[in-house]
Amino acid sequence: MSKKVSIVFHSVCGNSYIMAKEFYNEFVTYNAETQILRVKDPNYDELAKQFTVAGQYKNEILDIEEAEVEKLLDSDIIIIGSPTYFGNVSGAMKAFMDSFSPYWAGANFWGKKLLSYTTCGTTEGGADMCLNAINIFGQHMGMTPVPVPANLLTTQNFPAYGLVHYVGDYSNMRPSREVVLAIKEMTERLMSL
Ligand SMILES: Cc1cc2nc3c(=O)[nH]c(=O)nc-3n(C[C@H](O)[C@H](O)[C@H](O)COP(=O)(O)O)c2cc1C
Repeated sequence: MSKKVSIVFHSVCGNSYIMAKEFYNEFVTYNAETQILRVKDPNYDELAKQFTVAGQYKNEILDIEEAEVEKLLDSDIIIIGSPTYFGNVSGAMKAFMDSFSPYWAGANFWGKKLLSYTTCGTTEGGADMCLNAINIFGQHMGMTPVPVPANLLTTQNFPAYGLVHYVGDYSNMRPSREVVLAIKEMTERLMSL
C-alpha cells in the first residue's frame, strides 16, 4: 500500500523550503502520496527585512498550501522542518505545533513516523535543541521520532536527532550536495519502515 507523506516547513530565506522540496521530490520517486505544506507566518515581512536573500523564494513559498493539522491526520510519515530561532523552532512553527492541541487527548497521531530537520545559522547556534523541540512535540502527540543513522552522523556531523543545514550569517548558503544526499538516504530509510 502506498505511504502517505506530509512535509511541513517554515522558511523565510528559502533554505528550509529547499530542503522540503528535496524531500518532496524524493518521496515522489517512491510513488508515495506526498504533500508539501507551509505553516502560516504572520511575521514573514518583518523577519524578511533582516535578510537580503529573503525575497528569492518568497512567491514560491507563498504559493504553497497552508498547513492545517487536519491535513496531516491520515499521514504515515510526517517531516517537520523549521529554521532554528534562538535555539528553538521558529514562532510560526511553534504556533503550528500548538494547534495540534485538540488532537492530543485522542492520540490521533500515535505511531506516525516523524523526521525533523532544521536550518541554522552556525554550528554553535542550537540546531540540536531545535530538532529536539520538534521531536519532543512529536512524542507528546504519540509520534515516533526517527533518528539519523550513525553513518550520516560520522560523515556529516549531523546530530542524531534530525538533519541540519547550516546557512551562514546571511542565511544565503544553500543546502550542499551532502545535505541533499542525506535527504535521499533518510527518504529511503523512512520508506523502508
Ligand atoms: C529570529 C531569529 C532567530 C535566530 N536564531 C538563531 C539561533 O539561535 N542560532 C542560529 O544559528 N541561527 C539563528 N538564526 C538564523 C536562522 O537559523 C536562519 O536565518 C535560518 O536557518 C534560515 O532558514 P530559512 O532560509 O528557511 O528561512 C535566527 C534567525 C532569526 C530571524
